[in-house]
Amino acid sequence: MVFPFHNSLKASRIKAKIDRDTAYPKHIAIMMDGNGRWALRRGLPRTAGHYAGMKTMENTIRICKKNDVKILTLYAFSTENWKRPKAEVEYIIGLIHEFIAEDTLHEMNRNRIRINFIGDLSRFSTETQNLMRNAAALTKSNSDMVVNFAVNYGGREEIVQAIKGYLKEGSVELSEEEFERYLYTSECPPPDLIIRTSGEKRLSGFLLWQSAHAELWFTSEMWPSFNEYLLYKAIHEYQCRKRRV
Ligand code: FPP
Repeated sequence: MVFPFHNSLKASRIKAKIDRDTAYPKHIAIMMDGNGRWALRRGLPRTAGHYAGMKTMENTIRICKKNDVKILTLYAFSTENWKRPKAEVEYIIGLIHEFIAEDTLHEMNRNRIRINFIGDLSRFSTETQNLMRNAAALTKSNSDMVVNFAVNYGGREEIVQAIKGYLKEGSVELSEEEFERYLYTSECPPPDLIIRTSGEKRLSGFLLWQSAHAELWFTSEMWPSFNEYLLYKAIHEYQCRKRRV
C-alpha cells in the first residue's frame, strides 16, 4: 500500500539533495507528452487526459515558481497536432481559452509571472490570437518568472521564420547571436534542462536551435502523472551531470 504522504516524503528527501547555489537550472523546458495514453489506460476519453494534463501543467508552474526556476517553456501544441481529429484539436484550444479566461492567469499575474505564447500564432482564430496577446500584454511587466507556452510550434518552422526575418530586417552581419534575435525565444537564454514525459526519447523538433547544449531528461511517467518528486529528480540528476563535466 502506498501511503498518501509517500510521494511528498520522497519529494522532500530528493529536494534536500538539490544545491540551489551551484548549477541550478535557470531555464527548464518540458515536453508534456502522454495525455492520451494516460486517459486510455484508465478507460477515459483522450480529452480527459488533456484536462488532467492542464491541471498538472498549472501545478508544475506553481512548483517551479516556488523553487525559483526563472524560465519555464512548455510544449503545449505542435505544428503536427493539427492532424489530430478536429474535436480533439478544438478541445485543446478550448483549454488554452479556459486557462486565459479563468482565475489561473490572474493567479499567475499576482505571482508576478510573465506569460508568453511562442510559435506561429497566425494559424489560430483571431479570437484565440487576441486572447494570447492580451494574456502576454497583461503580464508583460512581471519579472519573477517567465512561462513560455509553445503553441503551433515546430523547431524547423521557427528556424525558417528566423531566416526570413533576418533577410527582411537584418542589418548587421549574421552571427549566432544575431540569428537568435529572430527566434521566438529571443528574450530568453537557452534551456539548461529539457524534460520529456511518456517514455519517448526524442526532441520531435522542440527548441532545435536552443537545445544545442541542454541536458535531456526522460521519464516513462505520462504527463498527467508528473509531480514534484519527478521535477526534483530531474533537477538533481541535472546537477550530478553538471558536476561530472
Ligand atoms: C501531448 O499528449 C499533449 C498535448 C498534445 C496537449 C497538451 C496541452 C495541455 C496540457 C493544455 C495546454 C494549455 C495551455 C494553457 C497552454 P498526447 O495527446 O500526445 O499523448 P499521447 O502521446 O499519449 O497520445
